[in-house]
Amino acid sequence: MDTLKRSSTVWVPTLTTLLDTMWDNIESKLASGPVSYLVPIQKFIFAFTSLCIAGADPANSPDIADKGYMRMDRWLAVQLLPSVPITTFQPLVEIFLHSFPYPYFLVSRDYNKLYKFVENEAKEVISRGQTEFKLSKEDATHNLLFILGFNAFGGFSILFPSLLSALASDKTGIQEKLRKEVREKVESGSGLSLRSVQEMDLVQSFVYETLRLNPPVPLQYGRARKDFELSSHDSVFKIKKDELLCGYQPLVMRDPKVFDDPETFVPDRFTGEKGKELLTYLYWSNGPQSGMPSGSNKQCAGKDYVTLTTSLFLAHMFLRYDSVTIANASFTAVDKPTP
Ligand code: HEM
Repeated sequence: MDTLKRSSTVWVPTLTTLLDTMWDNIESKLASGPVSYLVPIQKFIFAFTSLCIAGADPANSPDIADKGYMRMDRWLAVQLLPSVPITTFQPLVEIFLHSFPYPYFLVSRDYNKLYKFVENEAKEVISRGQTEFKLSKEDATHNLLFILGFNAFGGFSILFPSLLSALASDKTGIQEKLRKEVREKVESGSGLSLRSVQEMDLVQSFVYETLRLNPPVPLQYGRARKDFELSSHDSVFKIKKDELLCGYQPLVMRDPKVFDDPETFVPDRFTGEKGKELLTYLYWSNGPQSGMPSGSNKQCAGKDYVTLTTSLFLAHMFLRYDSVTIANASFTAVDKPTP
């Protein structure tokens, strides 16, 4: 939380500068055919999270500027593969991929390069960890790299493609409505900012609905700290201290008793008074969207930054373009406003 607060003033200018660079690159390649957005978005997320969370500029390290996102991907893959659900080739997947942690040597080279990058470039944040939170330099660096790579880079790398894929599947003319809202709010206020984006109800609802149907972290685990009773709509379960609990968010957030037409992507579901009440049932961050992260509830520390950043990403796109055409995880056309 301390690291996030520290960076709140550079958050929006860094985001818009990096997004403009990303879009300029995509546009320059569009004349030769569809442009996959997966690599450009990952490069953007890597630079954005490094600069904003760690105060570390990848541009100062040629290897990291070029391959930093790939090094993160490989490091994340060995941690996530044991728990990623794979339904084909069973029971072989269970036996050979899901039964043991992967050895560190597979990614030690990548991790060491990333560690050096954070150690050299994030001196100010690491030193805050040492002075304010009494961590050793090594612990502060490992922790910062974990938040940067696992929480922030990992989470956004799943969320942004889900957002674009939701946009691609829309048949309701949502782009026009989003564009109208974004431009109205930006023109009547002080430009694109953390404040103006919070007034964009439809943009925020679109982001919430993406998180409802595609929570980037679908499984959550917790161990009971005391005996308690866990209630559902129609049953009560007795939980004993130390029992392991697992929550599966995609099921929870499609509860037909809470969400009308739960399997359908409804872009404006979270607008208006009734929509705001539904935020109590939006659990993507390991707790309700209406809740606050704290030291005792394990709710995502970056919860509000995640939804605001994703709303800013969407708003920036509809300031820059009238519409975008997306197919097979690629942009096929972008339509710029006539000057
Ligand atoms: C799309 C992006 C993100 C998603 C989907 C996400 C999701 C989550 C979830 C589900 C948890 C709970 C994990 C568990 O204990 O089961 C969590 C925890 C956490 N997240 Fe995020 N997160 C994202 C981005 C961020 C960012 C940008 C930060 C930046 C600081 C962050 C910091 C944390 C921290 C520190 C925790 C651990 C909280 C604790 O155990 O007390 N996350 N996140």
